[in-house]
Amino acid sequence: MGFVEGKVALVTGAASGIGRAAAQIFAREGARVLVADVDRDDLAETEAMVAALGADVLAHPADVSDEASVAGMVVAAVARWGRLDCAFNNAGISDTTSAFESLSLEAWNRMIAVNLTGVFLCMQHEIRQMKRQEPEGELRGAICNTSSGAGIIGARGLPHYTAAKHGVLGLTKVAAQELYKVGIRVNAVCPGMTESKMTAAFAAEDNAITRAVMRHLPGGRMGRPEEVAEAAVWLCSPLAGFVSGESMLVDGSQVSR
Ligand SMILES: NC(=O)c1ccc[n+]([C@@H]2O[C@H](COP(=O)([O-])OP(=O)(O)OC[C@H]3O[C@@H](n4cnc5c(N)ncnc54)[C@H](O)[C@@H]3O)[C@@H](O)[C@H]2O)c1
Repeated sequence: MGFVEGKVALVTGAASGIGRAAAQIFAREGARVLVADVDRDDLAETEAMVAALGADVLAHPADVSDEASVAGMVVAAVARWGRLDCAFNNAGISDTTSAFESLSLEAWNRMIAVNLTGVFLCMQHEIRQMKRQEPEGELRGAICNTSSGAGIIGARGLPHYTAAKHGVLGLTKVAAQELYKVGIRVNAVCPGMTESKMTAAFAAEDNAITRAVMRHLPGGRMGRPEEVAEAAVWLCSPLAGFVSGESMLVDGSQVSR
């Protein structure tokens, strides 16, 4: 029996990287999974991978920065399975590095829209649904948001990414305080540099900032998407029943150096 057996789980940013790995781990551990992303082609690939594990899976294209799209995503999970137990709000974007004073307002707004407002919108719609449903045991539902090491320390060259990821931890803490008493837990994972499309683009920049980051990887390697996803799925599972408001670093000690 898996540790999220029979649960209904939703994963955003599921077409790739950490989100794709999380969808597979939710499935391996017995959940039914709605996978959401803006990238329809890669999302279809994720759906096929999860289905190949024998799981009940539904791919739902969604843009987390668009409220109607987020609302439709939660409705789709509930229409298919009747409830929502676990939500992993993981979709995100990065950007090329820039000097603080050179960052354009357009780049700032886009980053905040996806990486911060996107998480806020997902949380609101998930919480409304979880509050409506009967608890299973003591718990109605569990949410895990993806922040970053840049949610805890500053990522040089990425002020907008850093601000958004700090904001995700703020949302996580406020919601956790408000909701534990009604049976909803809210946590965050803070990945360090992890192999994905995002970090491939970052490493390819090859400037002083990216070279310094790549030179100082803990243990000389990046994390693997599944190493972050295992932590996220655990935080969403009943095994973490008394864990709420946690910002869990999954970074091989990168930030604690
Ligand atoms: N890879 C790292 O080193 C690292 C480190 C810290 C935090 N993170 C965070 O982890 C999360 C996952 O990133 P990843 O490394 O797997 O990168 P990734 O680029 O492989 O995956 C991100 C996914 O999010 C999707 N996405 C982007 N904008 C979206 C939107 N508006 N609506 C829905 N989906 C959208 C993308 O299409 C993509 O499939 C992100 O929030 C990222 O900021 C990653």
